[in-house]
Amino acid sequence: MKLADNKATLSFSNGSPSIDLPVYQGSVGPDVIDIRKLYGQTGMFTYDPGFLSTASCQSAITYIDGDKGELLYRGYPIEQLATQCNYMDTCHLLLKGELPNEQQSKDFNKLIINHTMVNEQMQFFLRGFRRDAHPMAVLTGLVGALSAFYHDSTDITNAEHRDIAAIRLIAKMPTLVAMAYKYGIGQPYVYPRNDLSYAGNFLRMMFAVPCEDYKVNPVLERALDRIFILHADHEQNASTSTVRLCGSSGTNPFAAIAAGVACLWGPAHGGANEACLNMLEDLQRQGGLPKVGEFMEQVKDKNSGVKLMGFGHRVYKNYDPRAKLMQETCNEVLAELGLENDPLFKLAKAVEKIALEDDYFVQRKLYPNVDFYSGIVQRAIGIPVNLFTGIFSLARTVGWIAQLNEMISDTEYKIGRPRQLFTGSVARNVQPIGKR
Ligand code: CMC
Repeated sequence: MKLADNKATLSFSNGSPSIDLPVYQGSVGPDVIDIRKLYGQTGMFTYDPGFLSTASCQSAITYIDGDKGELLYRGYPIEQLATQCNYMDTCHLLLKGELPNEQQSKDFNKLIINHTMVNEQMQFFLRGFRRDAHPMAVLTGLVGALSAFYHDSTDITNAEHRDIAAIRLIAKMPTLVAMAYKYGIGQPYVYPRNDLSYAGNFLRMMFAVPCEDYKVNPVLERALDRIFILHADHEQNASTSTVRLCGSSGTNPFAAIAAGVACLWGPAHGGANEACLNMLEDLQRQGGLPKVGEFMEQVKDKNSGVKLMGFGHRVYKNYDPRAKLMQETCNEVLAELGLENDPLFKLAKAVEKIALEDDYFVQRKLYPNVDFYSGIVQRAIGIPVNLFTGIFSLARTVGWIAQLNEMISDTEYKIGRPRQLFTGSVARNVQPIGKR
């Protein structure tokens, strides 16, 4: 980061002396005011719940321009990556900073597929869960448990350990997600096949059974690969910030990523695709297309507590670029499977059309986000609704680990320790129980 020519001056109306604060510039995007010495100089904190105006770190990985609807991984537009690269190359880019050349791509792919199996003991650990457990509960446990199985990659201060943990996590996540699914439906686990692509192998681990041959459908394989690319990173969102904060204590990478999985589960974050599909299914049950208008009135009524899931974003105040690419994939998958007349897809289109024209949404700059169409695609592929967020965690693992490793290598890194504006009771004495 570069020191800007200007400074910010903070003055107070009570006569306290004003102070100058340095301003830094990034390569693109808003400048930041450096407030690190603010408390030392004034005895005051800043107050910013939800981090609406706070840059919590410097990062060179992902850039979002929410007003333009632009998303760049290491400078490359998401549209180019989604149409010209595959997920493995995207992982290489996020982790190492550059897209691989042909040889690097082969080597990286080989490195990943060498680690797709998980310790056989993991399945006994999995057995401790109820069969009807939510896959995200299972995944939080399984990912955290990796630290109990791979002791040679748990030292976050060791760069080699961090590299091995990154490879292991990316390689093993599809195996773990598929195992969580198979366990839930009572089918035998399917071991990874390393002659398949990352997405193809995942499809096979999900849908093959030992008694039949399984052929990967290339359209579904490409669709899944695109879902993975679109979800691979998204700068300092809630789960990524969770991974950074968790990792800042020096905990092992598997524990930090498990914290990210737990955070992603929430319906305001990764759980939105599940919530969005459930919303569309509910609407379908209530009468479908003729009921869309009534439903949209409920969404606009603050007292109803109903939100249009898959719409709105903290950063995008324009169409989420990932939603456009997802809509394209949605059309391809539904055409491949002969589901063009899928009622949920028609419903989604009708909801989107009303929302894009309605004042409520226009004024608040609420546009479809990535989750609006990803649920329909995943459902068409045959992925159960409660596994959608698991797929999201699989894809986001590379982003989390790239951000975690970036933080640990940053010379300015410190344990994260926010402060607070205390509004509770001032010091008081404990009274004997009879007098309380
Ligand atoms: N439906 C109806 N109204 C909405 C919606 C929505 N989906 N989203 C925001 N609003 C309204 C909100 O009520 C508020 O209205 P008012 O100004 O009258 O009080 C205004 O728009 C601004 O919303 P906000 O809650 O201040 O915005 P935020 O930045 O805090 O929240 C959000 C962003 C994503 C949590 C929110 O838009 C939301 O809950 N959306 C639905 C869930 C969803 O699709 N989440 C996925 C996000 S993308 C995937 C990911 O990155 O994880």
